Amino acid sequence: MAKPKANTETMDKIVSLCKRKGFVYQSSEIYGGLSSCWDYGPLGAELKRNLKTFWWDAMTNRRDDIEGLDASILMHPKVWHTSGHVKEFSDPLIDCKRCKRRFRADKIEEGSKKCPECGGELTDVRQFNLMFKTFMGPIEDEANIVFLRPETAQGIYVNFLNVKNSSRQKIPFGIAQIGKAFRNEITPGNFIFRTREFEQMEMQFFVHPSEDEKWFEYWREERWKWYESLGLNMNKLRWHKHGEDELAHYAKTAYDIEYEYPFGWQELEGVHNRTDFDLSRHKEATGKDLRYSDDVYREKFIPYIIETSAGCDRTLLTILVDAYDEVEIKGEIRVFMRISPKVAPIKAAIFPLVKKEGMPEYAEKIYKELKKRFKVFYDISGAIGRRYARMDEAGTPFCITIDGQSLEDDTMTVRDRDSMEQTRLKLPEIVKFLDEKVNG
Ligand code: GAP
Repeated sequence: MAKPKANTETMDKIVSLCKRKGFVYQSSEIYGGLSSCWDYGPLGAELKRNLKTFWWDAMTNRRDDIEGLDASILMHPKVWHTSGHVKEFSDPLIDCKRCKRRFRADKIEEGSKKCPECGGELTDVRQFNLMFKTFMGPIEDEANIVFLRPETAQGIYVNFLNVKNSSRQKIPFGIAQIGKAFRNEITPGNFIFRTREFEQMEMQFFVHPSEDEKWFEYWREERWKWYESLGLNMNKLRWHKHGEDELAHYAKTAYDIEYEYPFGWQELEGVHNRTDFDLSRHKEATGKDLRYSDDVYREKFIPYIIETSAGCDRTLLTILVDAYDEVEIKGEIRVFMRISPKVAPIKAAIFPLVKKEGMPEYAEKIYKELKKRFKVFYDISGAIGRRYARMDEAGTPFCITIDGQSLEDDTMTVRDRDSMEQTRLKLPEIVKFLDEKVNG
């Protein structure tokens, strides 16, 4: 496969902004950093939390047919034998004998025997299992090996009966989960795009086998609309259908939603028809009857599963990349992070125009009121232009300024980061306005 042309300059700027503003830091930085691991700073933690809530709301709270779950990361090791991960979840690994660089064999030109970096000779292909292993209990032997889950999905499958029975949901219904997953990736990189520890936002929708294709199309549409509602530039998204050679061991059909990153088009989310593969295997391995029946379907059957699987960190990177904008204002290049109010870390900043004439006191009151409902930020230091600029870089969609007129008629200017328009509103109107923008 040809290497995508990377716009490293844009990525470098985003990585550096992330560090400077407190979105993302290198893990264990003061020890020289741990490769492919990242920490979310104050703004990043808020953004991530908002993103997860935004997904959770769309996938559970705003629907009646999906239940939530939070399963443990460590599971019975047999789960991973049954699911096929012990045998199949590996990448083909190849090394350069000269420069010692390591590659995924499927990512270098087919048939090539030369290192794409230095032209050196390559080793033969080896299969490398991506699951992290550790030991349960004090004895470090084969019998005590447990795996860090490489996908959250299996936690849902092994709880299918539990959730069905306790929620009394009927097919078609889904189970959604957000949680950490771990993969010992051969070539992590591109900042938080591919890491060894990451979070997934997965939903498994259980359907009658005769309706799998209908629900597969339904979920493709729903997931596309979700990215639209996140405010992404939809010209940068596209579908990619998996060919026979790309399909995961469990999938009958799979589509990726891809995004055009500065380093090329890459997978953002997968929508998979996993058929009855997982439940059948778990039924076989455990002897538990995972078949379904109710008064509508008068037969017993193993449901088919339509899966939507998004990476939380990868979506967060997509938001950052999509939001990044540079504008020249009076000869100065200014950065605007055009993050949707729905997930923006800070929803509004409150500024007294000057540090006198009762404006700070008034502004503090407004701040305390708004703080009860929204994540807001109070800033009194520096010229008003600099304060706006700091918030533009932090992705804050609205800035509320208290000026002389505020003390007379209780109106304040609300500046929109993207249109730069300013509107005068009173506090109750601001609350309504923010509520619509953030939760609408
Ligand atoms: N349960 C199905 C599953 O895990 P996947 O295509 O292997 O499918 C789903 O992963 C999503 O998880 C990807 O589209 C991506 O967003 C995210 N993801 C996978 N590996 C990742 C990694 N190493 N780092 C960050 N995100 C990753």
